Amino acid sequence: MKSKLLKSGHIKLYKRENSNYWQMKIKLPKIKSIRTSTGSKILNDAEKIALKYYSSLIKKNNDPIKRSRNIFKKIHLVETADLTKKEIEFILKESIKFISFNKKKIKKLNFLEGRTIFNLFFEDSTRTRTSFEVAAKRLGADLINVVVKNSSINKGETLLDTMTTINSMNPDILIIRHPEGGISKRISNTVDASVINAGDGSHEHPTQALLDALTIKNKFNNFSKLRIAICGDILHSRVARSNIIILSKLGAKINVIGPKEWLPKNIKQFPVKVFTDMKKGLHNCDIVMMLRIQKERIVGKIMPNQKTYFKKYGLDYNKLKYAKKNAFVMHPGPMNRGVEIDSALADDITRSLIQEQVAMGVAVRMACLDLIIKNRDILVNK
Ligand code: CP
Repeated sequence: MKSKLLKSGHIKLYKRENSNYWQMKIKLPKIKSIRTSTGSKILNDAEKIALKYYSSLIKKNNDPIKRSRNIFKKIHLVETADLTKKEIEFILKESIKFISFNKKKIKKLNFLEGRTIFNLFFEDSTRTRTSFEVAAKRLGADLINVVVKNSSINKGETLLDTMTTINSMNPDILIIRHPEGGISKRISNTVDASVINAGDGSHEHPTQALLDALTIKNKFNNFSKLRIAICGDILHSRVARSNIIILSKLGAKINVIGPKEWLPKNIKQFPVKVFTDMKKGLHNCDIVMMLRIQKERIVGKIMPNQKTYFKKYGLDYNKLKYAKKNAFVMHPGPMNRGVEIDSALADDITRSLIQEQVAMGVAVRMACLDLIIKNRDILVNK
């Protein structure tokens, strides 16, 4: 048998007496040796083929994020209603890969190198905007924050004209927050870029619900035995709507609790139990998710007195006792301490998952950006 060693013995080329073709055996740390034919009868060519194959294996072996078969095949993320249970589970599975990556000293990948992403926030945001920025930059993308208060919207340009203008710069993804419900979907039908809804009015906030689901998954793994309470201003909350859809699809049972005037008229159409009383609504719950009073959407109506509201619906240690013994507390932020939630409880890391939610937000958004770009490469940028 003829043979030749390359790369300090990591590659062995050999030709058996009874064969015309050069075979290769490649040995890499921590993986089983790979034996296969080079497909060549000529040693020179077989060497080139083996070296190329060896490099590709090294690259794959060093990839910090292992790839799975893609189940989520969409190029926009505008409504949770569009997502199947399998797609949600797949996005969560992909997000988990980024959790440990985000704890590394060097947090930089080249998955989105050369890709252009715009953050277009027409409403205030701290968490979502910075989380998308961090996620995009960690994946190597170029992210542009459009400062809307300095944009030509102020000179009378329509929103769709602004989007068409930005679309002409060939962006890959537009991340949009806007006070008008349904606007992300309309924009996604107008532009070539992919659109991610970062919160549209009282309608939807898909990545918030995904990050909430990931936070819960990390604690309980299985959703089917969970009862989750969503409490407060349900009527004006996009977070409540997206969470009801995502968490119920994953198999959790949902209680919604709030003042009668803040329960949507069509709430019975959702798979939830409805309560106006915290004691009854929190009974047997594993998670208590508090919501911010959406002051900006309660115009022309009387706001409740904050002290009276806290007494009835604000979560403190006493009301938390109505839930299961070790129930966890969540809040999407920004929170009004002393209005929706007691300050000490919000900061109690043995009960509150609020900071964990923020960390999960980056992982979920990295997964969503990565998947959407991959889908664009297959479906749009062929
Ligand atoms: N949870 C959330 O959407 O927070 P921001 O408004 O700060 O983005």
